[in-house]
Amino acid sequence: MHYKALLTTLGLAALAAFSACSYDKEELANPNACNTAGTTYRQHILPVLQNSCYSCHSSAAAAQHGRNISLEGYSQVQPWVLNGKLLAAINHAPTAPAMPQGGPKLDNCTLARFSAWVGAGAPDN
Ligand code: HEC
Repeated sequence: MHYKALLTTLGLAALAAFSACSYDKEELANPNACNTAGTTYRQHILPVLQNSCYSCHSSAAAAQHGRNISLEGYSQVQPWVLNGKLLAAINHAPTAPAMPQGGPKLDNCTLARFSAWVGAGAPDN
């Protein structure tokens, strides 16, 4: 009796989880879904740069290490986007050093957001 009830509950839970996958508002139903629509520099790109890149590429860090690759602020990031190096670096393409240097590759959704933002012309939004 209890066993059967448990099975029924599990079955319903599985069904609910399964149908949730095909739900229209993906992000609501599945917080892990990657939605790149509406990607903006301030909301999605800047925080990643701050968390994963500024340790070496803030203006202060760039000056300190004498390398001068600062990604702090839109006007500093833009040239590295336009010359293709930023996307190449974070996607670990052979045409640029793999970034973040010495750290794990950015997750796929973050990479998809960068691509979407660059594809939209990398606006200062
Ligand atoms: C631990 C330090 C460190 C971190 C963190 C880091 N970088 Fe770098 N980055 C470097 C160094 C050092 C270079 C110069 C590499 C070279 O010329 O070999 C570099 C170079 C670059 C370049 C220039 C590539 C080229 O072709 O010259 C880009 C673009 C770049 N990084 C982007 C990023 C981005 C975006 C992040 C964050 C996702 C990041 N880096 C995180 C150290 C770092």
